[in-house]
Amino acid sequence: MLRPSTKARQHPDATASGRDIQEAVMVLVRPRYDAAASVFPGNDIVDEDIGEESLTVGEENSRFIFSPYDTISFCVAGLKVYIYVRKMVVDKESAYSSTPDRKGMTRHYKFNVVEKNFTRLCSSKPILTVNGQFPGPTIYAREDDTVIVKVVNHVKYNVTIHWSALSNFSHQAMSDISSNRLRPFCRHGVRQLMTGWSDGPAYITQCPIQPGQNYVYNFTLTGQRGTLWWHAHISWMRATVHGAIVILPKRGVPYPFPKPDEERVIILAEWWKSDPEAIINEALKSGLAPNVSDAHTINGHAGPLSSCPSSSLDGFSLRVDKAKTYLLRIINAALNEDLFFKVAGHRMTVVEVDACYTKPFTTDTLLITPGQTTNVLLTADRAAGRYLVSASPFMDSPLVSVDNRTGTGTVQYTNSVSTSAAITTTKPPPQNATPVASSFTDSLRSLNSKLYPAKVPLTVDHSLLFTVGLGVNPCPGCVNGSRVVADINNVSFVMPTTALLQAHYFNVSGVFTDDFPGQPPMPFNYTSSGPGNVQTMNGTRLYRLPFNASVQLVFQDTGIIGPESHPIHLHGFNFFAIGKGTGNFDHKTSPSKFNLIDPVERNTIPVPSGGWTAIRFRADNPGVWFLHCHFEVHTTWGLKMAFIVDNGKGPNQSILPPPKDLPAC
Ligand code: C2O
Repeated sequence: MLRPSTKARQHPDATASGRDIQEAVMVLVRPRYDAAASVFPGNDIVDEDIGEESLTVGEENSRFIFSPYDTISFCVAGLKVYIYVRKMVVDKESAYSSTPDRKGMTRHYKFNVVEKNFTRLCSSKPILTVNGQFPGPTIYAREDDTVIVKVVNHVKYNVTIHWSALSNFSHQAMSDISSNRLRPFCRHGVRQLMTGWSDGPAYITQCPIQPGQNYVYNFTLTGQRGTLWWHAHISWMRATVHGAIVILPKRGVPYPFPKPDEERVIILAEWWKSDPEAIINEALKSGLAPNVSDAHTINGHAGPLSSCPSSSLDGFSLRVDKAKTYLLRIINAALNEDLFFKVAGHRMTVVEVDACYTKPFTTDTLLITPGQTTNVLLTADRAAGRYLVSASPFMDSPLVSVDNRTGTGTVQYTNSVSTSAAITTTKPPPQNATPVASSFTDSLRSLNSKLYPAKVPLTVDHSLLFTVGLGVNPCPGCVNGSRVVADINNVSFVMPTTALLQAHYFNVSGVFTDDFPGQPPMPFNYTSSGPGNVQTMNGTRLYRLPFNASVQLVFQDTGIIGPESHPIHLHGFNFFAIGKGTGNFDHKTSPSKFNLIDPVERNTIPVPSGGWTAIRFRADNPGVWFLHCHFEVHTTWGLKMAFIVDNGKGPNQSILPPPKDLPAC
């Protein structure tokens, strides 16, 4: 195999351009490295070597991989050394000499959950991070690879990490996977045996990792390629504990779109000047809505147009070369806000969402809800200059307040303009631009090619209607004597204190019931202001599905308190978004407009404000799978439930035993 040369260089400035620094460097660290002593690795560098596509640093036998664009610092003989990883080799011909259908490899990562001080918006505070980074490290892998992440909790809070919509497999299932690995559709196949023990939502599939403890997440990326992400899945910790998962196609398998010259991960998020945990705790005490964030960030920065002058110096900047095409892997990690994304003067071609290829279409504005990812191609085809990148909120419910500040960054044409040249700006869509949002959503279609067909279930075994919305419950200690809650089919979900998957697997009774209503218990005119009584029921109720059942699920927004869009996320499955509409779903007329040919396949879908969205999926993944609004405030308020998918009768259709290090509650 051809190996490029190492060019790690010392420089004190982490943001130095580093364009001449080699893409990928592997550094092995001696086991003497003490994870508890330092946030960031390490002490002794034993060896430097070029990895094929990423920088590997870590303990012996437990390496982890750094991502392109990360800055890594470590000490050699008391001297601080920085390596700026410029980019990953995504398509070096020489790296593709192995056969395209080889088995996936195993990639090890180590995630130290640590507190670190960050300064944003002219003020500093400690935040929770993985490996001291915000956003956290990117996981790079290829389709079919197994990813093993050791998560070590160095902070005082309980922690869990969720690996967005990944199928989770055991080692035993690997042989099965390999025989199936050319299955071309966007997710795991029926014959593959899965375990949810690595899925991550606290008290759903696992008890949290307690302070000082660790847990090894182990999952295989079968039948998925594209951009996903990982995030803490407990309380509001995901505000800063999140990062990208980049799954490249198998070696030798091209993208189904023109090959980009370079790739870049872009993570949108929200920043609070105070501690997000304090914000939600305060809100729960008062019974009122939590404070909105103080900024939207693009790769961790509010950017050049933010209110804090020094923020303007460190905003996100995408350096582009004239005429080159860039694949942008954009993730909305914001807690509570749908975001529009624009690049001044440029159009983008959408090619993939939630790790499923789409029919390409061009647009100047993306809508990305929390939980969703969108891959676009952007060609640097404009006059040399600097162009504004904007991330601005979408909220078409006048009752709900959002952070109306626009997160900004720049696209900067290299070698032609100075970094202080005037920025060509763009106007973000108005906050309530429903037509912009729905025209984007309506443009999404599965690629549905021969290699990547849309396998939409054409028959339905379980037809469900879930109302999603808000309610008001009594709360003697609260400000108004009541609290705002959220629910599905009038059930505000109560988190158990034992993980549901364990309770299910070990037949522990008294933890949950499996009587979640498949239809609204009391039908009403959903999109009007609602019935007189807007109190909800509390319960840890699950909906049981037999293995391999095909499910049609209509989410119906309610007007209780006020209509509002909800980004609904389903764990464990991809689904097809077969239809949406305004007003109430009509069993007789609405289905006639369903798209069963090439509906977009994804794992998170917005239910329009005052409207409905219909999805279909096949329950071919035994386990307990969380379904919730990806607005963290609504999840906290109870807009969540879980499906139990029973084991099948076949040899590889049962949940496997839990790993030995599964945390105890
Ligand atoms: Cu991205 Cu249950 O979460």
